[in-house]
Amino acid sequence: MRDSFDVLLLPGDGIGPEVIGAARSVVDAAAKHFGVEIRYEERRIGGIAIREEGEPISDETLEAAAASDAILLGAVGHPDFDRGPKRPEAGLLKLRKHLGVFANLRPVAAIPALLSASPLKKEIVEGVDILIVRELTGGAYFGEKEEGDERASDLSVYTREEVERVTRVAFEAAEGRGGRVTSVDKANVMATSRLWRSVVTDVAGDYPNVALDHVLVDAAAMMLVQNPKRFDVIVTENLFGDILSDEAAMLPGSMGMLSSASLGEPGTPGIFEPVHGSAPDIAGQNKANPYATILSAASMFRHSLGRPDVAAGIERGVSVALEAHYLTPDLGGKKTTEEVTEAVTRWVAAGEGVI
Ligand code: NAD
Ligand code: IPM
Ligand code: MN
Repeated sequence: MRDSFDVLLLPGDGIGPEVIGAARSVVDAAAKHFGVEIRYEERRIGGIAIREEGEPISDETLEAAAASDAILLGAVGHPDFDRGPKRPEAGLLKLRKHLGVFANLRPVAAIPALLSASPLKKEIVEGVDILIVRELTGGAYFGEKEEGDERASDLSVYTREEVERVTRVAFEAAEGRGGRVTSVDKANVMATSRLWRSVVTDVAGDYPNVALDHVLVDAAAMMLVQNPKRFDVIVTENLFGDILSDEAAMLPGSMGMLSSASLGEPGTPGIFEPVHGSAPDIAGQNKANPYATILSAASMFRHSLGRPDVAAGIERGVSVALEAHYLTPDLGGKKTTEEVTEAVTRWVAAGEGVI
């Protein structure tokens, strides 16, 4: 097991710096507890990078990312740039493409301490455990674009290879959990979806122990709130995965709980970031829920740094803090970002013995 790592911090915009500060505090406590050394480098991405460096992500930052062991990212986006020629979000898309992180894992699990935070009934949410595997470097996000005042288009392209590699990630994940994959597409309308469905069906032949079903995306959106327990692993294209994961965030009760891991080929650095955005409406108010970013840091130890022990230590600290009702306003609580951070940091530093 390695015990020394280079981590690139990209706090970004809005609540990004607040939640990255929280995650860093917890990572430092975990590193100390487990005898791991983390060397940080911090750089700009998003609106702040446009303002200070003229681009949403610089070439130097892309190089630093590729040279790191993992990237911990806050969020990008600010209303100031909504009509400008340069968009903060372009920095994130460029980074994903540059690192080739084609598989985006977004776990969605019901949390016992939060059952009343969800707008859905307790009996619907209790026991939910879904892994959304979102394709992240293809589809309409990256196809050729045309943008005019009278006409605009976003081309959506998928190749067999792109579908196959993300599908394998989903099936391999399913083998280690509930053994079921649901592929979500729009094959009744879209050509890319018909290719998607055919490739997923082919790949399934290599995984005889995993059950596969296909669901159209509109129906999948309904089932996520009607009977979310019917899902184990969901695999889907870039745009559908973006939308369904925000919807699924309401199962645990808040966008502030959903972590993510964006992974490429083995041995290349992953990007770890919360699913939520820069939340300009609450930025700078010490109200942001830091759990999604803290859990993304745990995921970084598991998926990119090969230290599941450190990941589990962080996850344990989060569970204890949630059980002790360290809840920010989005979860119906009154704790500040700093109070939650301090509590998780303390429990992670104390380790299993005290917990
Ligand atoms: P958002 O996720 O930022 O916010 C949606 C709602 O959820 C807001 O009411 C916000 O206050 C709340 N929320 C989000 N995260 C929270 C947290 N940690 N704690 C408490 N409440 C939280 O989505 P939006 O408002 O549609 O987008 C705002 C900006 O963020 C846009 O510029 C968008 O492009 C960007 N964005 C970035 C990312 C990313 O960096 N990965 C993801 C989504 C959106
Ligand atoms: C996400 C975000 C991004 C996406 C935006 C900010 C480009 O919504 O990570 O879910 O659409 O992928
Ligand atoms: Mn999104």
